[in-house]
Amino acid sequence: MWTKENIRNQSGKTVIVTGANTGIGYETALAFYQAGAHVLVACRDENKAQKAIASLNTHAGDGTLEVGVVDLASLASVKPFADHFLQHHSRLDVLINNAGVMVPPASVTNDGFELQFGVNFLGHFALTGYLYPLLKQTLNARVVTLTSLAYRYGTIDFDNLRSEKGYDAMREYSQSKLADLLFTIELQKRITTAHDRILSVAAHPGVTQTDLSRNMEKTAIEAATQRLGALMETAQGALPSLYAAVSSEVEGASLYGPDQDGGLRGYPAKTEIDVVALNATLAAHLWQTAERLTGVIYP
Ligand SMILES: NC(=O)c1ccc[n+]([C@@H]2O[C@H](COP(=O)([O-])OP(=O)(O)OC[C@H]3O[C@@H](n4cnc5c(N)ncnc54)[C@H](OP(=O)(O)O)[C@@H]3O)[C@@H](O)[C@H]2O)c1
Repeated sequence: MWTKENIRNQSGKTVIVTGANTGIGYETALAFYQAGAHVLVACRDENKAQKAIASLNTHAGDGTLEVGVVDLASLASVKPFADHFLQHHSRLDVLINNAGVMVPPASVTNDGFELQFGVNFLGHFALTGYLYPLLKQTLNARVVTLTSLAYRYGTIDFDNLRSEKGYDAMREYSQSKLADLLFTIELQKRITTAHDRILSVAAHPGVTQTDLSRNMEKTAIEAATQRLGALMETAQGALPSLYAAVSSEVEGASLYGPDQDGGLRGYPAKTEIDVVALNATLAAHLWQTAERLTGVIYP
């Protein structure tokens, strides 16, 4: 059973966690802080980042904490965040693409993309691309991207990325989480081809108690809880991300999630990837589309 206690001293390492003000991102930042890393608490709202840091500081930890402001729903926010980071840091050991939004009312990003596809996938695609040169320079850097078991029900509708044909909240969430997993695998393929020494891995937290259900009606939450069973505590839900970020057992282009109840609960383990996310043609097409939509071309 792999727990937080298995995390070795992370002093000297620099970690970015997106969406670190709450939920799994907060717990991930806390574990890295406690293990001695320099943690950039990346949030869309500066006040929320400051509050998170104040709260993180109440825990014993040898790490250091830094505020970062990035709104993944705005490509115009992602670039200055990355530029500022690149100007002030000489290494990036771990990038955790954690921030996410689930089943919001129909809405689009500042750039006109369906919100979940825009925040969960395109924003992180752009962020990772901007930070790639520094990841490449840092020995054994890792990119961990959060997906969800909902990816299994996803398809990528390239003609509806701006909700041109209509909006279905759960369909679009599944699409964004499939995109995250396709991205993880395609990124590793490109890293390997370039002979770079970065690992790109995906993690999913099963079912975990967080604010992710904030857009759901109470009755829908109750129905989901009845169907899926008890939710894990947030700290346990952060373990797959942490395992993917630090374990020496981790392999690129792999997925890590809880090991019990079909991946809903438990402790981190390698998880079989459904065939829907192993479609290399789809992944390559998604990558080209993301480059075109974001204007970010990886070096
Ligand atoms: N909880 C689960 O059971 C579960 C299951 C499968 C996958 N996941 C995945 O786990 C990840 C973490 O989710 P969570 O459960 O911890 O949910 P959460 O508690 O709602 O946290 C989501 C985080 O993402 C941030 N965020 C949302 N929109 C953003 C934007 N435009 N720019 C920057 N940050 C933004 C939120 O910031 P604000 O607080 O400012 O909104 C928050 O910090 C997500 O990728 C989610 O899809 C969770």
